[in-house]
Amino acid sequence: MEDTQVQKQISLRNIKKMALGDLRGIVYPRQVVLITSKAEAEVMGKRSIRDDVMAASWHTPLSFSPQMYAVVVGKERFTYKLIKKSRVFCVNFIPYSMEKTAVFAGSNSGEHMDKFKEGGIIFEECEKIECIRLKDCLAFLECEVENEVEAGDHVIFIGRVVNSGVKKKSNERLFQLLQPGGRKFGTVK
Ligand SMILES: Cc1cc2nc3c(=O)[nH]c(=O)nc-3n(C[C@H](O)[C@H](O)[C@H](O)COP(=O)(O)O)c2cc1C
Repeated sequence: MEDTQVQKQISLRNIKKMALGDLRGIVYPRQVVLITSKAEAEVMGKRSIRDDVMAASWHTPLSFSPQMYAVVVGKERFTYKLIKKSRVFCVNFIPYSMEKTAVFAGSNSGEHMDKFKEGGIIFEECEKIECIRLKDCLAFLECEVENEVEAGDHVIFIGRVVNSGVKKKSNERLFQLLQPGGRKFGTVK
């Protein structure tokens, strides 16, 4: 074997294997959005129409034409149950100043709590889907689920954007600096 090949093998052996959760500086920072959802749900034997909001830093644009956007939602989230049922969701882009709201929406489940009431989160009705969106968001994407993909303990909901809007242009959006569960945030100007 040539010297350069041997060196390549040795340096490959030195590459540290890391779990996804440890790849802080590689996968993060990521922009935090709030996903809003609405559907009929049964909680403790009682059926009612429920609204929910959760923080998400795993989401991505997919296509310009048609406009498509994907969100990655854990199967234990109440949001997951609501989107499964309604087949719609809204992606709300938020300013850095809404950090506390994101942490609140990202650390409580809407299954047994009205996060809007408890967290003082103001909402309004979406225009093109049966769902709500945040009044104070910077921009929003109203999406209809076109497809969903199983991805381990999460599901990728692929949405077709049926309505979108920018309420306020700002670079000061909220970014999560560390891995899921991490509570460090920043922004760019
Ligand atoms: C900054 C931040 C980002 C998060 N990103 C995601 C995400 O991309 N996908 C996900 O399933 N959960 C994510 N979570 C966790 C959910 O927001 C959290 O489990 C929430 O309580 C779920 O609410 P729900 O049960 O009302 O749907 C994140 C939490 C925080 C604080």
